[in-house]
Amino acid sequence: MENFEFRNPTRIVFGRGSENKVGAETAAHSKKVLLHFGGSSIKSSGLYDRVTDSLKAAGVEWVELGGVKPNPRLDLVHEGVRLCKEHKLGLILAVGGGSVIDSAKAIAMGAVIDGDVWEFYLGRGAPVDALPIGTVLTLPAAGSEASTGTVITKEEGWLKRAVNSDLLYPRFSILNPELAFTLPKFQVACGAVDISAHLMERYFTNVRNVAFTDRLIEATLKTIIRQAPLILKNSQDYDAWSEFMWAGTIAHNNLLNTGRIGDWASHDIEHEISGIYDVAHGAGLAVVFPAWMKHVLHHDLDRFVQWAVRVWNVELDVFNPEAVAREGIARMEAFFRSLGIGTTLAGLGIKDDRIDEMADKCTDGDTRTVGNFVTLDREAVRKILRLAE
Ligand code: NZQ
Ligand code: ZN
Repeated sequence: MENFEFRNPTRIVFGRGSENKVGAETAAHSKKVLLHFGGSSIKSSGLYDRVTDSLKAAGVEWVELGGVKPNPRLDLVHEGVRLCKEHKLGLILAVGGGSVIDSAKAIAMGAVIDGDVWEFYLGRGAPVDALPIGTVLTLPAAGSEASTGTVITKEEGWLKRAVNSDLLYPRFSILNPELAFTLPKFQVACGAVDISAHLMERYFTNVRNVAFTDRLIEATLKTIIRQAPLILKNSQDYDAWSEFMWAGTIAHNNLLNTGRIGDWASHDIEHEISGIYDVAHGAGLAVVFPAWMKHVLHHDLDRFVQWAVRVWNVELDVFNPEAVAREGIARMEAFFRSLGIGTTLAGLGIKDDRIDEMADKCTDGDTRTVGNFVTLDREAVRKILRLAE
């Protein structure tokens, strides 16, 4: 195991009716905030009214900024930064899914600097301060409600880039599984794939003697595999949603990364797909992950066999480990398809004409590699995208 330091400071307020505590949670940090949200879902579900009632009751004033799109855009971040500065706001309250939370994190960094927050996304400098943020989660998927990450897209050039900083852990996140009842099946499926991907990015590591976190990751993955079909069958299944939502947060709050070094190449490659084609992140991952696995399989066949046997219940055959590993990948692909998600680029309507461009952008023109389990250069990324066709 690697040395590590771990502290996740995000306060989780979980359960039925927990959104009614948002006023008190917010007031503990600021009485004048930016209320940030996406499209129409929080208004049609009635959540907007419950959140604003709670803010009023706690004496919190707010300025609103809705309109966050999936794959959140830099232009709206700039607007949020402007509002925070103009009205001297003290916290950003994100009500929505990963895109709203990521946009809030970008605004939080931008509101305390004079320059353009995009510089951080280009890797030029690191934030030293940020406004606090709080969240009310409506879509268990990205894990941003308790993560250090934010991913933003700049439309000019369609560049999707991430920043990670401990400053971006939300101060609090409100998780009421009932808020997910209104999700379309497609978003549920994308969420299941994204959570699974966060687990597998951590699972495939070169660090030895990580048996405890291996087991935690396997258990979390099995939870998603068990609960996602129940939710698709009955969108109001509170118990299934509770397991799914909490597993989604744990999958990405860095606990399962302790003592290990994750891979993250599939995420880097996927961000080029959703950056250029504006597809849902989970849908992109369902395409990239199987192809990545087929490409790196022989790097550590034993690890793939362990994963296939323990997570996908493939029968162990010590004389034919490759067949065991490949059967694990096949079962994972079948699971994604059973949720209604395709596993090929063609299924996303993507032809090969921009594969070279994606491989080039992903590796900054072949000047950097991606991934840790196996490091990938531009040609390797291109091969993986070809395998995904
Ligand atoms: O905009 P509204 O109307 O709210 O609709 C949203 C949106 O269209 C809808 N939705 C959300 N909650 C709903 C709902 N519809 C009905 N009922 C509800 N309860 O769902 C759609 C998708 O929302 P979005 O926030 O885009 O999805 P998700 O949570 O999957 O976030 C994806 C983004 O997170 C990034 C991805 O790259 C992508 O940009 N990620 C962020 C990470 C992080 N910060 O740590 C890590 C992840 O790996 C990921 O990269
Ligand atoms: Zn993800």
